[in-house]
Amino acid sequence: MDKNKFRWGIISTGHISGKFAEALEILPQAELVAVASRTQQKAKEFADKYNIPKAYPSYKELANDPNVDIIYVGTPHTFHLENSIMCMRNGKSVLCEKAFAINADEAREMVRVAREENVFLMEAMIPRHIPLIKKVLQWINSGKIGDVRMVKASRCSRGNFPDEARQLNPKLGGGSLLDVGVYVISFASMIFQKSPVKSIGLSHIGEIGSDEQGVAILKYDKGEIADLSFALRTEAVNEAYILGTEGYIKLHDLFAVPTKASLVIDGKELETLEEPIIGNALNYEAEEVMRCMEEGVKESPFMPLNESIQIMEIMDEIRKPWNLVYSNDFKI
Ligand SMILES: NC(=O)c1ccc[n+]([C@@H]2O[C@H](COP(=O)([O-])OP(=O)(O)OC[C@H]3O[C@@H](n4cnc5c(N)ncnc54)[C@H](OP(=O)(O)O)[C@@H]3O)[C@@H](O)[C@H]2O)c1
Repeated sequence: MDKNKFRWGIISTGHISGKFAEALEILPQAELVAVASRTQQKAKEFADKYNIPKAYPSYKELANDPNVDIIYVGTPHTFHLENSIMCMRNGKSVLCEKAFAINADEAREMVRVAREENVFLMEAMIPRHIPLIKKVLQWINSGKIGDVRMVKASRCSRGNFPDEARQLNPKLGGGSLLDVGVYVISFASMIFQKSPVKSIGLSHIGEIGSDEQGVAILKYDKGEIADLSFALRTEAVNEAYILGTEGYIKLHDLFAVPTKASLVIDGKELETLEEPIIGNALNYEAEEVMRCMEEGVKESPFMPLNESIQIMEIMDEIRKPWNLVYSNDFKI
């Protein structure tokens, strides 16, 4: 174990945890020292696959490991609060997958504990940390499209998910709003940098009781509007547009990690940005965690904790009229 490196642990051995383990492999300042699963067998298989020295048969044992600095939480949405708080109560910093929590009450509690324990906490929202987005924000801040008036964004996938899979399973906080809607809501929040004054949405609740697809319209105090769509069983063009008084910016692919953006003024494409991704993109958020920890700051300016709470508040407001209640709702 190298004491000069940040020592990471991973909670859960699912799809995204594997991607995260791969992401850490290319970061010289990171060392993946332990993984935890609900079963010893899965922990060991994962540890063998990614060359991890320790494999724990419970999440608690990882949270208690004094040789771990940061824990990545890759469980379904309904467990983010419980898993993150357990880690933070044991002095660990936490990078918790999106959606940050099930609702704003849970998000507030996670943030409260992070501040009480004085540990770093961040929602894992990849687009916030990738090079293209940072350059697009520079375009906006330098006034290239004038005042931003509208955002249009879509994040839809046509997945063939079994009913019990976490994507649509209501018992695991499944559904398009928390799974993919969070990306476009977070995108609008990043562009406008404030909470909407009104958030409304429509969804289709499928046979198993979760929202298969939906739309949301957010209106802000100066009349700005975000028009957002999200779906888990529908194919779509996943683009984003940032529309201003002088022109607009198009992000060519919002589903995978965006690498190309165009600046359009008076109908003419004046500039194009292409920023390839290094690694599988999860490395950018891991790098940001370590950058913050190196500097001794407890939250990232690119994904602030109060903003993660605001995003959950928007999702709470949107789903209220849908009568969509998650198993964790009203527990705290
Ligand atoms: N950033 C991204 O691009 C991205 C992409 C996909 C997903 N995500 C997010 O990552 C999280 C996990 O998604 P995933 O696709 O990796 O899910 P997944 O493949 O289903 O894995 C989830 C893991 O959580 C653990 N778990 C604990 N309690 C569970 C329960 N009751 N039922 C099922 N699994 C349970 C399991 O690991 P053990 O059996 O080892 O305990 C399971 O393998 C979600 O928050 C999701 O939104 C992010």
